[in-house]
Amino acid sequence: MPPELAGTEVGVYSGRHYNTDKELYKEFTERTGIEVKLLEAKDDALIERLRSEGENSPADLLVLVDAARLDKATRMDLFQPTESPALQQDVPAELRDSQGRWFGLTRRVRAVIVNPELVDPATITTYADLTKPELKGKLCLRNSKSVYNQSLVADQMIQQGDDATKGWVQGMVANVEQPFFTSDTPMSRAVAKGDCGVAVVNTYYVARMLSGENGAEDKELAGKLKVVFPDPSHVNISGAGVTRHASNPEGARLLLEFLASPTGGKGYAEANNEYPLSGYGDNEVLKTFGTFKANGVSAEQMGTKNQDAVALMQASGWK
Ligand SMILES: [Fe+2]
Repeated sequence: MPPELAGTEVGVYSGRHYNTDKELYKEFTERTGIEVKLLEAKDDALIERLRSEGENSPADLLVLVDAARLDKATRMDLFQPTESPALQQDVPAELRDSQGRWFGLTRRVRAVIVNPELVDPATITTYADLTKPELKGKLCLRNSKSVYNQSLVADQMIQQGDDATKGWVQGMVANVEQPFFTSDTPMSRAVAKGDCGVAVVNTYYVARMLSGENGAEDKELAGKLKVVFPDPSHVNISGAGVTRHASNPEGARLLLEFLASPTGGKGYAEANNEYPLSGYGDNEVLKTFGTFKANGVSAEQMGTKNQDAVALMQASGWK
């Protein structure tokens, strides 16, 4: 590290909000002498804030959740490219921007959860299986405003093409007889209680319930769920990039490198029961879910397909 950076400050705007993230920033400061000034808020609010602050923004690093949001900030020119052999090495190509404007830091899988009393988990091995007529009235979905669902649809469009994806969405919508949910946790509870038989969620929500973080009742409910990784699975990311008007881009790069490194990245992933950039990490709850096969669709491709995905969902009845 260039010694002149010790004593400088890196401003971080983060859409992640986990106490363990703060521990990692502290560790970075201990290692480098660079202070981290953190502002946490919702992703879209941070994007808007950075845009309106322009050159005067105190943010050097912008951390966002979901490829679609990273793409949105990129289109608004909120990032600058970062050249770093360490980032090239630690972040797989499909999990970073091809021009170095952002880099994935953690992986999250949008998988299927099943209540085995209502649906045989063995009957679901792909996302396409969610259109099976025997799931009529048993499938629950979160609404189409969810960027997680938008990215899942974008991902399917890239793999299967527009027509097949449209058929898939329509098939799922035909199986939904309940109001669309507004978040993953209540939907997971509904599956556990048998109000739904099957749903699509990010696995860290189930892991959070299982860990006891949400209380004893959620822990017990989550114990009734079976997580099924579709083969292959849709993998999304949280990630970060150096801001366009960073006053300390070098410090921001060092923090980015630390967070993407096997040590830093492991902590970042564990904080939210997510998966590190490679492998499965040490989280005991996640180990109980077993392994998944990533479909290899790049986060960049997924992000650029977001608007098309939203249009397809609207045209296909995904409320
Ligand atoms: Fe989330």
